[in-house]
Amino acid sequence: MKVTVVGSGFVGQTTAMRILEKGLAEVCLIDIIEDLPQGLALDLKEAAPVERYEPRVVGTNDYADTAGSDVVVVTAGLPRQPGMSRMDLLGKNAGIMRSVVEQFVPGSPGAIIIVVTNPLDEMTFLAADVSGFPKERVMGMAGVLDSSRLRYFIAEELGVSPLAVEAITLGSHGESMVALPRHATVDGKPLTDLVDEATIDRLFQRTRDGGAEIVTLLKKGSAYYAPSASIVEMVGAIAGDTHKVLPVCAWTTGQYGISDVYVGVPAKLGRRGVEEIVELALDDAELEALRAAAEGIREKCADLAKL
Ligand code: NAI
Ligand code: 2OP
Repeated sequence: MKVTVVGSGFVGQTTAMRILEKGLAEVCLIDIIEDLPQGLALDLKEAAPVERYEPRVVGTNDYADTAGSDVVVVTAGLPRQPGMSRMDLLGKNAGIMRSVVEQFVPGSPGAIIIVVTNPLDEMTFLAADVSGFPKERVMGMAGVLDSSRLRYFIAEELGVSPLAVEAITLGSHGESMVALPRHATVDGKPLTDLVDEATIDRLFQRTRDGGAEIVTLLKKGSAYYAPSASIVEMVGAIAGDTHKVLPVCAWTTGQYGISDVYVGVPAKLGRRGVEEIVELALDDAELEALRAAAEGIREKCADLAKL
């Protein structure tokens, strides 16, 4: 299994590290900045004896080295700065996305693409469009991150281990993230039985604003530990062909009454990519929110064509 990580910034390099430490795949780390991926790869190799992993990592600026990748994770692009929305990144990151996809596709025509660059939903659509790959082989990472943040916030609120909490978010990676309180549990008990509505609303709003909260604290750039953990959860499901259901940005073909748009939905992942979109029993309000998120993304994707 070979995973290329495009973009060797904070998210890319921590993703490479986690893949190596878990022994999931050999890694090719690429960036436009000369010597950066080479230096990071060497540093990662030098950690191998202590961390006890195989030093199967190459750092490069040459797309020839990415050839034969099974998975390509795209993190190349600008991150948010304080005061910026993810959408402010659209124009610049669209140019970067087009250029990197055009460069890795010829050498890895059978790869699965995991898009991370923001704005996530629109960049996932663009990567699918430019690659021409079947849509089940192109997906975006956001739902695993948003759900992980929500699970942590619930755990912190109730003073329990994050491992006791299950929760899932759907929709877009942004303001129209869809909250599903009825699907959140703590030690198997419904969250709705444990806290009042105002608390639930506060926890969900903090999750929606989770990326911005970190940007404000870091002052330069955005989150990377939880994002890279979330990416590697998806890589693990694909590499291990586990059929695990994770919330990912996936192409819809009628599920939830939504078609022909990328949006965050629960999807079964395996070696073929998105094997199936799983339809949870949503109530009317939840369905309406998911459909509204999908329509918002569809409009923004139409804007991409005008850039
Ligand atoms: P960063 O600035 O640390 O790294 C970005 C890297 O991309 C830089 O090393 C830069 O040289 C590289 N790059 C730029 N243009 C390139 C090109 N044409 N070819 C190859 N590499 C290129 O940023 P960070 O923190 O790693 O974030 C990367 C992206 O991921 C941002 O757009 C950020 O908003 C997004 N992100 C998305 C998340 C999600 O949940 N989907 C979570 C966290 C970050
Ligand atoms: C995040 O949610 C910036 O999208 C990134 O942390």
